Amino acid sequence: MNICIISASTREKSASLNVANFVCTQLKQLSVTSQVSILNLHQANLPMWQEGLTPNSDIEIQLNQADGFVFVVPEWHGMTPPAFKNIFFFFNACFAHKPVYIVTVSAGTGGRYPISELRMSSYKNSFINYIPVSTVVDHVNDTINDKGEFIAQSDFIAQRIDEGLQFLLEYSHALCQVRDSAIFKEKRFKNGL
Ligand SMILES: Cc1cc2nc3c(=O)[nH]c(=O)nc-3n(C[C@H](O)[C@H](O)[C@H](O)COP(=O)(O)O)c2cc1C
Repeated sequence: MNICIISASTREKSASLNVANFVCTQLKQLSVTSQVSILNLHQANLPMWQEGLTPNSDIEIQLNQADGFVFVVPEWHGMTPPAFKNIFFFFNACFAHKPVYIVTVSAGTGGRYPISELRMSSYKNSFINYIPVSTVVDHVNDTINDKGEFIAQSDFIAQRIDEGLQFLLEYSHALCQVRDSAIFKEKRFKNGL
């Protein structure tokens, strides 16, 4: 399987990137045969979408090649960062009928809002498939350090992430069948609703 982890913060010293690095290490240990990559939105430095703007082809290839995704999303002002929503404007088609495990991040006690926002608002034209398992990494700086190491005293979050990743791998296998189907290839309707 090819899994792409998107770190949705545009901040340089981002706690979401630390979480993405931890998730990457966990995933490689769980599935040695999988290819795992990170798309760091700070490095990607994408412009805001405008009509006629050509998408970055390296990112498009990376997203297209993925069978599944982990979205590591910080809560900013009770929302997902605008730079992350921007991804759907450029690359909607890359996500069609692929599974996503949402992991949200907060330095404090927040982190819940991006889960409901993504589940409510990003599926219609992307045909994205959020798996039912999500994980909130709150108090992130006491949980995963800037080397991507797990430092919390309890292993609760590490266990949640382990479960989420195992489900993601299963869904990634299963949904390949959907994308191989005749109805997927027919592309009868452009939008999901
Ligand atoms: C513009 C901005 C708004 C934020 N708003 C919230 C918020 O609504 N809830 C919350 O729990 N944390 C909020 N935070 C703090 C984040 O939890 C903190 O920055 C955390 O490290 C995750 O973001 P990062 O990946 O950019 O580091 C905000 C941070 C920024 C930069």
